[in-house]
Amino acid sequence: MHVLSVSSLKGGVGKTTVALGLASAAFNQGLRTLVVDLDPQCDATTGLGAIGEFAETVADVLQNPRHNIVHRAIVSSPWNKLHSGNIDVLVGSPKSQALDSPSPTINEIWRLEIALAKIESEYDLVIIDTPPSVNGLTRTAWVASDRVIIVSEPSLFSVVAADRTMHALAELRRGLTDRLETLGILINRFRPQSKEGDFRVSELREKYGDRILPQMVEERTVLQTAQGAGRPIHGWPGESAIEIAAVFDRVLEYVQKSLGQSTPSRIARNSRKVLRLNRVMRGQSLDEVLKLEATESKDEISDLLGLDDETKKD
Ligand SMILES: Nc1ncnc2c1ncn2[C@@H]1O[C@H](COP(=O)(O)OP(=O)(O)OP(=O)(O)O)[C@@H](O)[C@H]1O
Ligand SMILES: [Mg+2]
Repeated sequence: MHVLSVSSLKGGVGKTTVALGLASAAFNQGLRTLVVDLDPQCDATTGLGAIGEFAETVADVLQNPRHNIVHRAIVSSPWNKLHSGNIDVLVGSPKSQALDSPSPTINEIWRLEIALAKIESEYDLVIIDTPPSVNGLTRTAWVASDRVIIVSEPSLFSVVAADRTMHALAELRRGLTDRLETLGILINRFRPQSKEGDFRVSELREKYGDRILPQMVEERTVLQTAQGAGRPIHGWPGESAIEIAAVFDRVLEYVQKSLGQSTPSRIARNSRKVLRLNRVMRGQSLDEVLKLEATESKDEISDLLGLDDETKKD
């Protein structure tokens, strides 16, 4: 199982659109796919056609990631009726808003990872749609992820937001999980004929180099139509849908290339460093822990944690 988060600090830049486009590409390719809807707005759940009352949702999973709760919160998408394959959704809930703490504890941010570890053998690819912030929910997603795509519009505000998101991500990676890698920034809503768009894109490419994905997603009305109908973009009628579906195929290819052949098990939380942090700091806020990690002074951290007496001796 590989896990990919789709994020951005700024709202409305196309996270859900990209998450659904990639889910559509993965399903079309025959990958066993799970979309995790961490956004309290639940747009990804709706886009996958999963509409209704759900007894259990991602909010329950985040409170108690037990096997049976995880299973009950996962529903089959109606996309499955279109062709063979398997695409499911871990359904979103407005209740997850209450769990989006600006200062999550170490204990809280591991819960999705723990939940996904329970269903590791059941899916090839997990795509997480995150809310537009770097509060608890998004960081919970990142800690459970192998890769993160940051979505950005080709505008100045988006450039700044993408920059901030990269920072938050680098911080988390230094502090907590080595498995997590930023795949890069995916530019969405690109208008090929717009000078402003071209200029912003070259500005972004200058600033971030190859951290900007080689593919760009154009502004296409058909994306809104398919999303509104709760249907995948692959198989939607028309030339425009075929073209944009092919773009998502290439982005997925890029993701897969970066992930490589190996499928590491969800054991990041079992690494020595993480076990140590978890044991001592279960109730501490993530920010405090990251601050400690950022000091980069081993002695200072050891003192504060009251650990590693044997390392201090030598
Ligand atoms: N490339 C595109 N072409 C046309 N419309 C798009 C494109 N990308 C996104 N949209 C539309 O823009 C709106 C916002 O996109 P989307 O919901 O994917 O953003 P988001 O980042 O998930 O938003 P939020 O932060 O609220 O979760 C939607 O109506 C979507 O259909
Ligand atoms: Mg969204």
